[in-house]
Amino acid sequence: MENFKMINEKTYWVGKVDDRDVPFHRLTLTKGTTYNSYLLMTEKPTIIDTVDMAFAREYTENLKSIINLEDIKYIIINHTEPDHSGALGSLASKAKNAVVVCTKFAVEELKEMYKLHTREFLVVGDGDSLDIGGKTLKFIETPYLHTEETMITYCEEDKTLFPCDIFSTHVANYEYFNDEAKEDITPDFIGYYTLIMHPHRRYVQDMIKKIKDLDIKIIAPSHGFILREDVKKFINIYDDMSKNTQSNKKALFVYSGMTSNTKKIALIMKESLEKDNIVTEIMDINKVSKEEALKSIEGTDMLLVGTSTKYGDAIGSLEDTIKELKDINLQGKIAGVFGSYGWSGEGIEVVQDHLNETNMNVLSTSNIIKSTGMTDIEFPIRVRFSPKTEDINKIEKASKFVADLLLNSI
Ligand code: FEO
Repeated sequence: MENFKMINEKTYWVGKVDDRDVPFHRLTLTKGTTYNSYLLMTEKPTIIDTVDMAFAREYTENLKSIINLEDIKYIIINHTEPDHSGALGSLASKAKNAVVVCTKFAVEELKEMYKLHTREFLVVGDGDSLDIGGKTLKFIETPYLHTEETMITYCEEDKTLFPCDIFSTHVANYEYFNDEAKEDITPDFIGYYTLIMHPHRRYVQDMIKKIKDLDIKIIAPSHGFILREDVKKFINIYDDMSKNTQSNKKALFVYSGMTSNTKKIALIMKESLEKDNIVTEIMDINKVSKEEALKSIEGTDMLLVGTSTKYGDAIGSLEDTIKELKDINLQGKIAGVFGSYGWSGEGIEVVQDHLNETNMNVLSTSNIIKSTGMTDIEFPIRVRFSPKTEDINKIEKASKFVADLLLNSI
């Protein structure tokens, strides 16, 4: 295995093949993986992404045999997870003249992770370009693919896309290119998409729109095979698999409140869900019979229960109805809890406890983090008093998340 491989004029793969069983997102990658880093040997030599921290020293030492590290002008970090940024500390300490290029969301993370508080950063955003002396790099932000700070880099002259995690495969391959692979890589490519990207498919669609007018000859991702044959096919796989395929889905809001604040949360969510063509209904539990409420709950695909809190409890007849749900088969339905509160909001937690006793898929912040890595989707949704701008943003983000869950379940 070579430490370097020319993939394009003046562009080298300088990564690391990791052929161990690699622990990853609570799975073991039995085929291993690669950490693809790239060196663009232009007048202003540029590194695009590095390798996993475990190989930081080896990576930096290897680079010395192809370039004087003090000549490196830019280190582009498309994504801060340590399987790509992991060698940044080691590299930056030797590449003393290099400017770190990343999105605004990545700056503080990288400074903290690698003690780079005194390092010069160049913050880039959607559509920004960087002349690296002989090649022009264009940056496209791809938030939530699969973390908030991610971006991708496109080299205009080479028509090469460097999308980091996107379009990757977890295979410790020694062939570099998909057209040299010993077998069809499509199953591994789809497996990777399903595991890492599909939970964020709304953002995959955003990314597809942003790259659709780019002339892409090569996709050089940061794991697995570099794609230079059937490039369009692999983009189409992402496009097709990330489209919402369900229709006629229903969401039922059942709420009970002292003021109108809990209802306001329901109305914000309702408006958002309807943009995704989800049929919605809002029900004040205190204005219908228990039988009517239970019948509606059995007929919905997603149940969102809202309550405010009085003296540490849910309001009105809500608990009386909700506690019966554990005795009904509601398998396959998604459920979530929301509510406005003034002091501690115990009622919201009481309702969550009752839903947790049912066989529905009950949303919780903990499970969302564990299944998607998204840290800014909160369930239950808790809003102190009336929803303010930041609350509305939080509610709308959560609404998009549940819409995706409902419309295209994995
Ligand atoms: Fe390959 Fe999100 O790290």
